[in-house]
Amino acid sequence: MKKELETLKNCIQPRPNLIVSCRDEEGKDNALAVAYAGNCSYDPPMLMVGVVPSRYSYDIVKETGVFVVNLVPQELEKEYYYLGSHSGRDEDKIKNLNLEVKDGIEVNAPLLVDFPVNIECRVVDSILTGSHEMFIGKVERVHLDKKLLNDEGKVDLSKIKLL
Ligand SMILES: Cc1cc2nc3c(=O)[nH]c(=O)nc-3n(C[C@H](O)[C@H](O)[C@H](O)COP(=O)(O)O)c2cc1C
Repeated sequence: MKKELETLKNCIQPRPNLIVSCRDEEGKDNALAVAYAGNCSYDPPMLMVGVVPSRYSYDIVKETGVFVVNLVPQELEKEYYYLGSHSGRDEDKIKNLNLEVKDGIEVNAPLLVDFPVNIECRVVDSILTGSHEMFIGKVERVHLDKKLLNDEGKVDLSKIKLL
């Protein structure tokens, strides 16, 4: 196999397509698209999400220390790109998209009900890597659409077509 030498900005593919939702200290909810993300521990379960400091959501996650990761099904592609191209600084994106919100149980951040999997996280550490600050989130609670359980009651994520 012949290989070219290249500099890639997004080296690992496929990228995850996630929506991170958060709530500021006045109770305003916001959400943004995040692709710089990954699992980083299974015991205890932890994940990391990378947020650029200029994002409106950045100060919210930094100050509240909590966020929710929402997995994105293919049918919510339009909403995903909207949340990834408009800022909560200028508008209430969640209201404008008519998204239903529920309070987290463990953390004060919104779950996006239309998304089939919502993961409540508490920030336990963070590192400013360069363009992004990687927030390490301890998974406090996972909410799953019941349709994702198989006949034995086990989670089967292949039942949703993720974006
Ligand atoms: C496909 C895609 C992936 C993105 N990934 C990230 C990311 O990993 N981190 C980040 O800070 N912004 C990312 N963005 C950009 C933000 O989602 C976007 O700037 C958003 O408008 C920020 O919203 P906010 O200002 O309300 O926080 C991504 C956008 C798209 C479309």
